Amino acid sequence: MSQCRVCGRSVELVLDLGSQPLSDVFPPEPPAAGQEFFYRLQLGRCAGCATVQLLEEVPRERMFGEHYPYRSSGSSVMRTHFSDWAKHLLGTELAGKPDPFVVELGCNDGVMLGTIAEAGVRHLGVEPSGGIARTAEERGVRVLTAYFEKETAAAIAAEDGPADVIYAANTLCHIPYIGSVLDGVSELLTDDGIFVFEDPYLGDVVAATSFDQIYDEHYFLFSATTVAELARRHGLALVDVERLAVHGGEVRYTLAREGKRPASPAVAELVAEEAERRLHDPATLAAFADSVRHNARELIALLTRLREDGHTIAAYGATAKSATVTNFCGIGPELVTTVYDTTPEKQGRVTPGTHIPVSPASAFDAPYPDYALLFAWNHAAEIMARETEFRERGGRWITYVPDVRVL
Ligand code: SAM
Ligand code: TMP
Ligand code: ZN
Repeated sequence: MSQCRVCGRSVELVLDLGSQPLSDVFPPEPPAAGQEFFYRLQLGRCAGCATVQLLEEVPRERMFGEHYPYRSSGSSVMRTHFSDWAKHLLGTELAGKPDPFVVELGCNDGVMLGTIAEAGVRHLGVEPSGGIARTAEERGVRVLTAYFEKETAAAIAAEDGPADVIYAANTLCHIPYIGSVLDGVSELLTDDGIFVFEDPYLGDVVAATSFDQIYDEHYFLFSATTVAELARRHGLALVDVERLAVHGGEVRYTLAREGKRPASPAVAELVAEEAERRLHDPATLAAFADSVRHNARELIALLTRLREDGHTIAAYGATAKSATVTNFCGIGPELVTTVYDTTPEKQGRVTPGTHIPVSPASAFDAPYPDYALLFAWNHAAEIMARETEFRERGGRWITYVPDVRVL
């Protein structure tokens, strides 16, 4: 039995995705049996506050640190997304303030703060993974190489003073010790400041059966209903929500101190929509779990049939997400020969757990495989727009979100 990291009540099992390796550790070669770290990937729902979360926590030092390979700037769509957001902040929240201060949790390679730094605005990225933190510094971003939590926030407040905007993209849902983070935010924020974070949306995961959004780093799957409760417990209020199309469907949540800002109608609308569709009901989540098992069976059946018919299959995008799919479905090099990916830190290595070799995306070229399994389905538009020749030469994409399909 696991205890909810928001309210302390018990978390009940929704979906068991079995034994899984760390999603972002790509071994240089297939490790000997027993040499790779595995944990049990189980998704649950809190019986008290309904927050959807993992039952088992992987120690943070195993996931993040010097060799964490993810590079936010690897997608042009995401580069635009973050520079647009930085420009929006500069033109609204930060405009007109004498000496505003922005803090970003999980700034990665500086994809967002780079624009803030260029504008000459005071800022700090808090990034525990040293390798990418240095990349951010090289582009002029000021970085504290640390995990954000209550103590970090106190140290920043003492050194730099309060922050007008605290921002986190695809990072808050990674942090099980969320109470400490929210306490830290509360300590660091100016009186009328905002905490904005964007993360994969439970509503989209359930609607699209995108079960690969569940992996070690995605500890929480948030919704407006549960974030409002989380905020309330820390003297904050959910004052705005915005649905985002990126990464397969996210929500950008804005929190402010209780009573400091009026809530936009979008908050009540999204909370009502979640109630209407019974998003947090155990029955809804059980149906989601059934759909996941169904889609996983369909995917294995399709890949097995194609291989038996003599077709070649590769994959595109060595995403952290795909570790859940390959390990839950048992997809190894006998089904999928190679995964193509643009990230130098992943190339020449093998995928976690099922050990499919990773090759540079530039090697995805004629002669093409007959089929390409789109692990990076959240970047489908960007990838398909670039890899037009694959289709022209008769190649076919395979996706499994929202269902298993040859495109
Ligand atoms: N914000 C970027 C984006 O949206 O592309 C990076 C997201 S990446 C998936 C998550 C980042 O959070 C990693 O760079 C990781 O090192 C960082 N991280 C993990 N735990 C953290 C913590 N406690 N405080 C700050 N950053 C953390
Ligand atoms: P993400 O879904 O967590 O952002 O990971 C995307 C992965 O896919 C990352 O390893 C980079 C890779 N990728 C490509 O290989 N080609 C591309 O065009 C894009 C956008 C991503
Ligand atoms: Zn709870």
